[in-house]
Amino acid sequence: MGKNKVFEKDVEEVIINEKEIKQRIKELGREITESYNNDDDIVMLCILRGAVLFMADLAREIDLPVVFDFMDVSSYGASTESSGVVRIIKDMEENIEGRHLLIVEDIIDTGRTLKHVVDMLQTRNPKSIKVVTLLDKPERRETKELEADFNGFEIPDKFVIGYGLDYAEKYRNLSYIGVLKEEKYC
Ligand code: IMP
Ligand code: MG
Repeated sequence: MGKNKVFEKDVEEVIINEKEIKQRIKELGREITESYNNDDDIVMLCILRGAVLFMADLAREIDLPVVFDFMDVSSYGASTESSGVVRIIKDMEENIEGRHLLIVEDIIDTGRTLKHVVDMLQTRNPKSIKVVTLLDKPERRETKELEADFNGFEIPDKFVIGYGLDYAEKYRNLSYIGVLKEEKYC
């Protein structure tokens, strides 16, 4: 684990290390770049707060003109289960009508959060909506019609932390993705 020593005692297992994250983000950047035309201008929408590190690293691997925007939604509170009630805490600022929107998420679990966000943004008539997620827990999906266009890693149904992902706002600054020890939230 090297750095991030302060959190070692809370981590059951590292499932994706720093090098693997970096490598995969390079590939995703290439895939995303190739999926648009050269002169397309993209609004990258970071879903706060979990996707901040992913957005920052991914944006630098995309070879297109992008604009950054941010939206803060909450479906969790201090728990490890999605409540199903999605609240918009901060809306995005850009007008997306007629523009390409790329939503950047940390993880798709049940899919409820993203479904809500996509449905809402669709009503603003963007030219296209694509979704990129760093992590995907397909076993947990409730909303079948919702799949990411680009997906970093499929992971098993375990509660993970690090590289932006939190438990009760902690662990976001871990440089890898790890499984949180159950005793930490039971
Ligand atoms: P969903 O609505 O169930 O798909 O939940 C999506 C949101 O829940 C993500 O954007 C994360 O903020 C959070 N989340 C889901 N699974 C995990 C996890 O394993 N660790 C940390 N956060 C998670
Ligand atoms: Mg989140």
